[in-house]
Amino acid sequence: MRYLAYTMTAAAALLAAHAAQAQDSNQAEGSNVEVLHWWTSGGEAAALNVLKEDLQGQGIGWQDMPVAGGGGTQAMTVLRARVTAGNAPTAVQMLGFDITDWAQQDALANLNEIASEGNWDEVIPQALQKFSKYEGEWVAAPVNVHSTNWVWADASLMEELGLEQPQSWDDLIAAMQKAKDAGYTALAHGGQAWQDATIFDSVALVTGGPEFYRKALIDLEEEALTSDTMKQVFDRMATLRGFVDDNFSGRDWNLATAMVIDDKALFQIMGDWAKGEFLNADQTPGEDFVCFRFPGTSEQVLFNSDQFAMFDQGGEVSPQQAALAKAIVSPEFQIAFNKVKGSVPARTDIDVSEFDACGQQAYEDFKEAAASDNLMGSFAHGHANKAAVKNAMYDVITAHFNGEYDSETAMDELLTAVQINM
Ligand code: BGC
Repeated sequence: MRYLAYTMTAAAALLAAHAAQAQDSNQAEGSNVEVLHWWTSGGEAAALNVLKEDLQGQGIGWQDMPVAGGGGTQAMTVLRARVTAGNAPTAVQMLGFDITDWAQQDALANLNEIASEGNWDEVIPQALQKFSKYEGEWVAAPVNVHSTNWVWADASLMEELGLEQPQSWDDLIAAMQKAKDAGYTALAHGGQAWQDATIFDSVALVTGGPEFYRKALIDLEEEALTSDTMKQVFDRMATLRGFVDDNFSGRDWNLATAMVIDDKALFQIMGDWAKGEFLNADQTPGEDFVCFRFPGTSEQVLFNSDQFAMFDQGGEVSPQQAALAKAIVSPEFQIAFNKVKGSVPARTDIDVSEFDACGQQAYEDFKEAAASDNLMGSFAHGHANKAAVKNAMYDVITAHFNGEYDSETAMDELLTAVQINM
């Protein structure tokens, strides 16, 4: 009996100890945020660290859920699976229409209180609020503004080949021809659907101008989608295809940037997250690499904004989610993060004098484009239309880029893709 009593007491003590431990670990888990994102390249990871450290400084642990794949297509697939399994991550990096789609499904936590404390209504530009708010409620915290109509050039190759910054499409092609003739890769590119679409953003803009871009890629008007201008856009995509190297297929975007960093390729047409890679490789703008707007599009900005949406964990926004949202929008974070990421602040009231020349230009361009109706959501990065339409259009653009369709067929297929998925 005594033995039994002792054993029972010991068992009870053990159970109690386990319970206490479990509670501890629950608390530990409870003070974590699980963040699903696709920032896996060197430059992206460096920027993400700024956020991690900020939160850790506040005693909030970071549970990382990276899903590789530029542009976030794979991340969005994983997110859907997680939500379907009833296991949504705490916070998720998202773009444009993905945010409003999830909000429509009532999956996102309401951030109104944090937004009102931080005066977000005043400091976040309307173009971003269109995606951070759903039916008047704040559902996402904007981290940055990126834009896609940029070219990244290798400074030493420009010098070696005697090239000036191209001012027009013809200049751009002539410069690439020179590089190709000299035995270099003219266009560093990775054959992945979202990268092909990223180039398509700039080509559509320069070929048809902002009105065409809007009509074709944002408003999805049949007349624009089937116009001679659209045929010319596809023809120009085929021209660019002639300047990539033989091994481009499937290459990640940051490896394409590395070709410019390593003086192997002249240009990369890519959003300004590419700058994060140059900086991460200790390169200096104006010295080692040059940034310029895609020739002929210097007045326009095709933007995309990374935002963090908090998945509703069954009730009010949690203190950790609130802390994350607040940290993201704070001016100090917006400066520290965006300097590393290659993007510019998502707020209009930031002093960017600490930013490099490309960043300062990007911030000015963004504000000027917004004031002159030249700011448009990037089709390639989810700010022109919902994911189903975007992904169907990706497929057509990629098939054409890889020579499966001629330009006429691509136009027909593009219209079909839009009409089926709209
Ligand atoms: C995101 C960037 C990211 C890039 C490549 C874009 O859609 O907005 O933050 O760096 O994809 O991964």
